[in-house]
Amino acid sequence: MALKKGVDVRPAQGKLGILLPGMGAVATTFIAGVQAVRRGIGKPIGSLTQMGTIRLGKRTDNTVPAIRDYVSLAKLDDIVFGGWDIFTDNAFEAATRAGVLEEKLLAQLKPELEQIKPMPAVFEQAWVKKLNGPNLKKGTSKMDLAEQVMEDIRRFKADNGCDRIVAVWCGSTEVYRKPTETHATLAAFEEGLRKSSDDIAPSQIYAYACLKMGVPYCNGAPNLSVDTAALTELARKQQLPIAGKDFKTGQTLMKTILAPGFKARLLGLQGWYSTNILGNRDGEVLDDPESFKSKEVTKLGVLDHILQPHLYPDLYGHIDHVVRINYYPPRGDNKEGWDNIDIVGWLGYPMQIKVNFLCRDSILAAPIVLDLALFIDFAHRAGMSGIQEWLSFYWKSPMTPEGLYPEHDLFIQLMKLKNTLRYTKGDELITHLGAEYYE
Ligand SMILES: NC(=O)c1ccc[n+]([C@@H]2O[C@H](COP(=O)([O-])OP(=O)(O)OC[C@H]3O[C@@H](n4cnc5c(N)ncnc54)[C@H](O)[C@@H]3O)[C@@H](O)[C@H]2O)c1
Repeated sequence: MALKKGVDVRPAQGKLGILLPGMGAVATTFIAGVQAVRRGIGKPIGSLTQMGTIRLGKRTDNTVPAIRDYVSLAKLDDIVFGGWDIFTDNAFEAATRAGVLEEKLLAQLKPELEQIKPMPAVFEQAWVKKLNGPNLKKGTSKMDLAEQVMEDIRRFKADNGCDRIVAVWCGSTEVYRKPTETHATLAAFEEGLRKSSDDIAPSQIYAYACLKMGVPYCNGAPNLSVDTAALTELARKQQLPIAGKDFKTGQTLMKTILAPGFKARLLGLQGWYSTNILGNRDGEVLDDPESFKSKEVTKLGVLDHILQPHLYPDLYGHIDHVVRINYYPPRGDNKEGWDNIDIVGWLGYPMQIKVNFLCRDSILAAPIVLDLALFIDFAHRAGMSGIQEWLSFYWKSPMTPEGLYPEHDLFIQLMKLKNTLRYTKGDELITHLGAEYYE
């Protein structure tokens, strides 16, 4: 992550196009939400860029501007939306189908939402077994499909008079695959595209096309997408910021809030059993064991990194960590998560904590999409390229360079994010040492 102190950030002038591969529940809740906020009929709750503040200087200085006044971010009124999906539903139809937002609210937004129609998708059912749709591109090779996506981006930018474009993958979770030789270098990946290698997933074709077109890219799902050596190489070459993966919303958000607390107080952990019921299309896709495997990997990684069992073998050396997701249609997007946490206190005495989170998946994800789009655009204008680790705050499984373990603790992540903003402005970092108050 190339980071410079006190940089000149190119101003956020003109329109920002936000392109979303995958226009389902999360994407349409995000789009409709931004439109509702613009009209003053809803508040952007959960969004750091819209509601967050940042302290500058000493606690006694009382200088706490809003983040959006402190750094140059695109205004909500300057955003234009677009994307791709395997279904032809426009954003109004897709939002209605997703059933997240009330019909009364959607009816007020209908004229704008109806205008947003998904472009034909790059899709292969081998990568999302439970889905199939009619709105698909046809190509002679995977490179041809990538070029078609590039052409879509070019056209979208011209038609909408955009100054800049960013992309956030909101498509379904693809099946779990480890990177192969095809992903090892950009040259091997491009050869793979020309030969239509089976190793290359649709999400990687979008990521490649976006980066080739100078578009910063975020990956909201757990599948690899941009998280490969080849595409990281391309991002660096194009001097573009990238970030991922898998939006940190419900149960994992709770985990990264609670686990740092247990560790701070050196409470031991014997086991953490997490189960969910979920009835939206995401839940249906995750009902396929291979797609669930992608999710399981990002969900399971969190505790190990926060608790560091190698440093605390007595406390965290033997944890039974289980994660389940069950597809249960009656719940729709309103996921219910249960956690049973077996903790251990003084002299090894066991205790239990139960968490029952009746959440709304896309309501939690929408502000994350907004923040990521605005921050990755900011990063680009600030000349930051490659993996944007300061955006770990938003991810279940933050991307890091090889050899560096990810930081999962939500509070460290937030400090890192805010200090990055202070750093780019050339302001003093806040370490919370506080010695100056006693001098
Ligand atoms: N909602 C959350 O809290 C949350 C949290 C973390 C991650 N996610 C991830 O975000 C993604 C979106 O979630 P959702 O609830 O909106 O799911 P969804 O099923 O409602 O929407 C996904 C959309 O992607 C489309 N799609 C699939 N493959 C595509 C392709 N190759 N090209 C274009 N479109 C494609 C599908 O047709 C669908 O409309 C999922 O991968 C999910 O796992 C969601």
